[in-house]
Amino acid sequence: MKKMDESELKRQVIENGNIPRHVAIIMDGNGRWAQKRGRPRVFGHQQGMKSVRAVVEACRELGCEVLTLYAFSEENWSRPLTEIKALMRLLQNYIEKEKQNLRSNGIRVGCIGRLEKLSDAPRNAITDAVRFTADQKQMLLNLAVSYGSRAEIVDAVRRLAGEVAAGRLAPAEINETTLAGALYTADLPDPDLLIRTSGEMRLSNFLLWQVAYTEIYITDVLWPDFRKQNLFEAVAAFQKRERRFGKVEKSGRNNRKPKDKP
Ligand code: IPE
Ligand code: IPE
Ligand code: MG
Repeated sequence: MKKMDESELKRQVIENGNIPRHVAIIMDGNGRWAQKRGRPRVFGHQQGMKSVRAVVEACRELGCEVLTLYAFSEENWSRPLTEIKALMRLLQNYIEKEKQNLRSNGIRVGCIGRLEKLSDAPRNAITDAVRFTADQKQMLLNLAVSYGSRAEIVDAVRRLAGEVAAGRLAPAEINETTLAGALYTADLPDPDLLIRTSGEMRLSNFLLWQVAYTEIYITDVLWPDFRKQNLFEAVAAFQKRERRFGKVEKSGRNNRKPKDKP
């Protein structure tokens, strides 16, 4: 069967109308992409930036509210220093080059993770872009950098414990809402769609709390090969899923969460 072309697929996805509010992506496979070509891993990271541009545009075109990109995990600090430096430099370059363009397209930049661990140049580039785009409202580009979900949950619990110790919060007042509200993602809807490239079937410490009812889409495509077409394919697959949230009914309205009363 002939593959549907990108613009036709996009048209159908938009016509369906069920656009995920929040798409989260584990951008994986850069190293393998480079190795397959006999090139150093960093070459794969460089090429991966083209995919970042493509998915940011694609999500903006579809009208997604939030796009979270897993750019660098807490565990990635254990990689060789040269690779870490290259990744940080690429991140900094991307942000510095794109911030004007992001702003012109109504995109606000946000960041989750232990940013304080970054060296000055990439950290300043990110905080500067966050400030520069702060008033944009079309879409949030949320970068997970030095991010680990368990670390995030630990930070949240520590914050709540501090509130309890200070007498401002009773233990019985801690519930799912207060815990979610203490996470880095406090103001964001949970992801509707999680995409992982390069075929790995794991979460690698990404948004563990937030993906409780997220639809997961795994593709063998390596991140540097991922383009708009692939993003539209993922959303089209999402639109065919039936989200039940633990219930039995087949409502067919796959965006409805338990708290969204009819
Ligand atoms: C993803 O590609 C980029 C980051 C994790 C920062 P990898 O570097 O993990 O590539 P593979 O998985 O080794 O192919
Ligand atoms: C997950 O990919 C982290 C990012 C994409 C930033 P990894 O390549 O680090 O994950 P593992 O090691 O395969 O689980
Ligand atoms: Mg990997």
